[in-house]
Amino acid sequence: MTHHEPAAVTVLGLGSMGSALARAFLAAGHPTTVWNRTPDKAAPLVAAGARQAATAGDAVAASPLVVACLTGYDDTRRVLGPVAETLAGRTLVTLNSGTPAAAREFASWAGERGVRFLDGAVKDVPDAVGRPGTLLYYAGDAALFAEHVATLRVLGGDTILLGGEPDLAKFYESAVGATLLPTLVGFFAGAAAARTRGIAAADLVPYTVRWLQMIGEILPVFAAEIDARDYSAGASSVDLFLAGADWDVEFARESKVDDAWLRPLHDLVRKAAGAGHGDDSIAALTEVLGTP
Ligand SMILES: NC(=O)c1ccc[n+]([C@@H]2O[C@H](COP(=O)([O-])OP(=O)(O)OC[C@H]3O[C@@H](n4cnc5c(N)ncnc54)[C@H](OP(=O)(O)O)[C@@H]3O)[C@@H](O)[C@H]2O)c1
Repeated sequence: MTHHEPAAVTVLGLGSMGSALARAFLAAGHPTTVWNRTPDKAAPLVAAGARQAATAGDAVAASPLVVACLTGYDDTRRVLGPVAETLAGRTLVTLNSGTPAAAREFASWAGERGVRFLDGAVKDVPDAVGRPGTLLYYAGDAALFAEHVATLRVLGGDTILLGGEPDLAKFYESAVGATLLPTLVGFFAGAAAARTRGIAAADLVPYTVRWLQMIGEILPVFAAEIDARDYSAGASSVDLFLAGADWDVEFARESKVDDAWLRPLHDLVRKAAGAGHGDDSIAALTEVLGTP
């Protein structure tokens, strides 16, 4: 039986997420070199066994695999530009947030410099890094991903390659992430209303969680309607949501909660009804959104 020593890795950027990534590599026994613009942030990692590089160039030179988790691609390029010759031939994995366009641009920048590049996204909080169920998805060359997947899986057991196009991780992150703010604002508006009745936000949580589970279960049905562009068999019609719009506004007024966030959503439902989708499934909003 062959025994593989854990591969050496470098982590650039030791903010909340970068520090969590470095900690996970250390916990899995990977020789880990770290670098951060503000060097003090490396101290707890050094105490946990990391080697601190004095410069970004030294950090890159230390490992064949470099994981960067700075704020954005521009910051990463600013740090790596001057050391691009050292980076050439090594694998760079970026785990920052950003737009698909910025990811494409960064991939071109890396390609032009002979850097083997994967882009990824951590779909959880720093505390979840290193757990078996934590999701990270990646975009880039399948052979390169296969080469490093055992090491990358240390960051989260649910480690997936979405495909070869270099912007796919950022595309999925943006497309899936579109639910986050509207969902949270809905919860916060409900919590503000509950407060006016002396009901704690915590009392809403079990029911909100059930509600979100129901939404999760219904998404495949909506997705099938959207993909077939056939909204005729929907159980929840646009008109049904239109009728509910007035009650939403009345409830907000009664509870003295700002209803401004609801108005654009109601306008969208009205626009769909106006476009002849009244009897169609609420998933027909996709058509309205797709034709601004
Ligand atoms: N935290 C989360 O929950 C979470 C979850 C998923 C994804 N992410 C993404 O992960 C990335 C990092 O997030 P974070 O929470 O770790 O952020 P953070 O705590 O604010 O850390 C930002 C890191 O980037 C470095 N940095 C920023 N601009 C730089 C520059 N121009 N030159 C050199 N270093 C620079 C900072 O260095 P200094 O220490 O010197 O300032 C620091 O190491 C972001 O894209 C974020 O969206 C975060």
